[in-house]
Amino acid sequence: MIVLKSREELAKIRKASKIVAVILKEIEEMIRPDVTTEELDRFAEERIRSLGGVPAFKGYRGYQATLCTSINEEVVHGIPSKRSLKNGDIIGIDCGAIADGYYGDAAVTFPVGQISEESAKLIQATRKALESGIQMMRVGNRLGDVSYAVQCQGDAYSYGIVMDFVGHGIGRALHEEPQVPNYGSPHTGIRLSPGLVLAIEPMFNLGTHLVKVLDDGWTAVTTDGRRSAHFEHTVAVTESGPEVLTVL
Ligand code: MF3
Ligand code: CO
Repeated sequence: MIVLKSREELAKIRKASKIVAVILKEIEEMIRPDVTTEELDRFAEERIRSLGGVPAFKGYRGYQATLCTSINEEVVHGIPSKRSLKNGDIIGIDCGAIADGYYGDAAVTFPVGQISEESAKLIQATRKALESGIQMMRVGNRLGDVSYAVQCQGDAYSYGIVMDFVGHGIGRALHEEPQVPNYGSPHTGIRLSPGLVLAIEPMFNLGTHLVKVLDDGWTAVTTDGRRSAHFEHTVAVTESGPEVLTVL
């Protein structure tokens, strides 16, 4: 069942989403060689709580951290640890928060120091794919239009488009219907209505689209070891167009 959100519910998702936006902005300023992902995670948890929110991922299906920190060939769900960042790495930071019982969810892939042109292009294309998907979040369009817009950006660069993980409806729960694949066919799927809130989250790989989950039960990596980028926003369909909620 797909739940459309009322104005009141949207306000709560907006509040949770703003907290996420603050965290991602402040984490960006902490990204540098030698910082550990555990340090980033500790900061994020305290900061979410100081803003009146609750970390959304902590405790979700047994996940133990506030952030997902996915480095280089890690696609999503990397677990914060004592590993430190190195110049030239790229790191996906995924953050979710709960406020007044409602969820916000967003992710950004950041460069660490000086990165290769190949990595920079991957990051740019994945960011652009998210933007293309967001632009399709309009009344009268269909879900397949969002997915197809994302896919087209990946195809344009021949990147591997991850299929094993998808975007999702969000609101009262972190993951609601519908699923939002990063590939699809235009003019198919449900029609988009005001009050629909989706987390759109493209994941593009330099090489194969294939991923596997490590023995830790969480970390998804590319099977060829090449790098991956991930961006995500929580976005509402309104009468006047898409509203990106996970921005300041
Ligand atoms: N943004 C991711 C998602 O929507 C983060 C979930 S991590 C988890 O699936 F730990 F909460 F599972
Ligand atoms: Co998500």
